[in-house]
Amino acid sequence: MTLLELEDVTASYGPVQVLDGVTLSVPENGAVGILGANGAGKTTTLRAISGTVRAGGRIVFDGKDIRGMRPDQVAAQGIAHVPEGRGTLGDLTVRENLMVGAYLRKDRKGIDEDVDYCLDLFPNLRERITSNASALSGGEQQMLAVSRGIMSKPRLMLLDEASLGLAPSTAKNVYDAIRRLRVESGIAMLVVEQNANLAFTLVDTATVLETGRNALTGSSAELKGMDEIRRAYLGG
Ligand SMILES: Nc1ncnc2c1ncn2[C@@H]1O[C@H](COP(=O)(O)OP(=O)(O)OP(=O)(O)O)[C@@H](O)[C@H]1O
Ligand SMILES: [Mg+2]
Repeated sequence: MTLLELEDVTASYGPVQVLDGVTLSVPENGAVGILGANGAGKTTTLRAISGTVRAGGRIVFDGKDIRGMRPDQVAAQGIAHVPEGRGTLGDLTVRENLMVGAYLRKDRKGIDEDVDYCLDLFPNLRERITSNASALSGGEQQMLAVSRGIMSKPRLMLLDEASLGLAPSTAKNVYDAIRRLRVESGIAMLVVEQNANLAFTLVDTATVLETGRNALTGSSAELKGMDEIRRAYLGG
């Protein structure tokens, strides 16, 4: 069953239109990638879904039209946005950041279990639980950003460039954990990633955006086999 459906989504910053009809769908428990060059509109697509930019077209989540909802209303539907640049709160500790993620929940026991789950998924965070987020390494901040998303108990996670600025081995660790999360939780994922090699370890299908439109859509296997994808995104 389809969990998220975007049809002909448009968005602008002031007079400049940057999404020019984006169409994609994420199945329940599925993982879908968005690839594309700098400025193609990947982040804006995630922002259109999470209600942080105004969008045209159709955005339907779990059968409900969510276009035009405020970001907090979208979050309450079960969508967690792990933003580009991570967005962790530097003055708060790791534990406090996790609690911010859980702010809509009241199930004390479930919250405690999910904190444990995050610390099991990302053991680095267990050692840093009382540190301020600003004192974490880039990789640890990314782990915290994903964990904060987990704490909201979402049905869909929007992940924006989880590997950005990380050493290759750290990026791989983060993706290994996200893959494990996907298998264990069944959370559906919409994954923006410039590192297509990493993206293809996680997603089943992907779409390539070019100047705010879909240029190509296919399964990971199909896309990996295409010359133009290999040249542009897979380093040869
Ligand atoms: N806040 C903003 N105000 C004005 N223009 C913006 C703003 N954010 C993005 N843009 C422009 O919108 C276009 C799409 O940007 P977007 O951030 O969605 O691209 P992206 O595919 O995520 O790129 P990157 O890979 O660099 O993160 C770009 O031309 C960008 O310059
Ligand atoms: Mg971006």
